[in-house]
Amino acid sequence: MIDWHTHILPHMDDGSHTTAESIMLLQMLCSQGVKTAVATPHYYANAESIEEFLKRRQAVFNVLQEDKPEYAPKVILGAEVKYFHGISKMPNLQKLMIEGTDLLLLEMPMRRWTQYMISEITQLSAVKGITVVLAHYNRYLKQQSKDLWDYLYKNDIVLQANAEFFTDFSTRRKAIAFLKQGIIPLIGSDCHNLKHRPPKIGTAYEIIKKRTNTGTVEQILKYADSFL
Ligand SMILES: [Fe+2]
Repeated sequence: MIDWHTHILPHMDDGSHTTAESIMLLQMLCSQGVKTAVATPHYYANAESIEEFLKRRQAVFNVLQEDKPEYAPKVILGAEVKYFHGISKMPNLQKLMIEGTDLLLLEMPMRRWTQYMISEITQLSAVKGITVVLAHYNRYLKQQSKDLWDYLYKNDIVLQANAEFFTDFSTRRKAIAFLKQGIIPLIGSDCHNLKHRPPKIGTAYEIIKKRTNTGTVEQILKYADSFL
């Protein structure tokens, strides 16, 4: 199992604050069946250059690699890139793609997206050869039109759902309905820390297994594997 969205790198953002906490998060992921965790610290283009971010990310990754136990999930590097007007024209954006893939995890604003924003999402793949993954699409459902997800999915935009979409009672039914409609997401825990935002990806998969036809979990896992 792959966890596509985590804040497990220490000292990078509002996620893990220490290497010890990162290791405990990795242990939790391991016990939930995760073999690979994609580290996706926040990247804000208005705060630092891509080069500075990559340097910082590599430094903390090296420390974590050295300290993490052998049985812990493999960590691969990525970023959660915050959308800004004109992002489709930003040079070197490919450097923020998830290691070994052409996937870019994109965080969109929490308001109704304009037509320009939606065209920038599709522009990124047309111009830069990037496959856009919309981070935690479940958080934007209320603000966007119902047809948008089907449109994006059909246009090869990848949707990433957080585990909470499946574990929360208030959204579970909707999350399963999307699966039954044929919209398969990449699932991520979006874990930040042990106390307030621990990983719950194992529970999300258990719920999917219980509530869908046989084969859905396998379909999700196969879809995830196709990118790595
Ligand atoms: Fe996140």
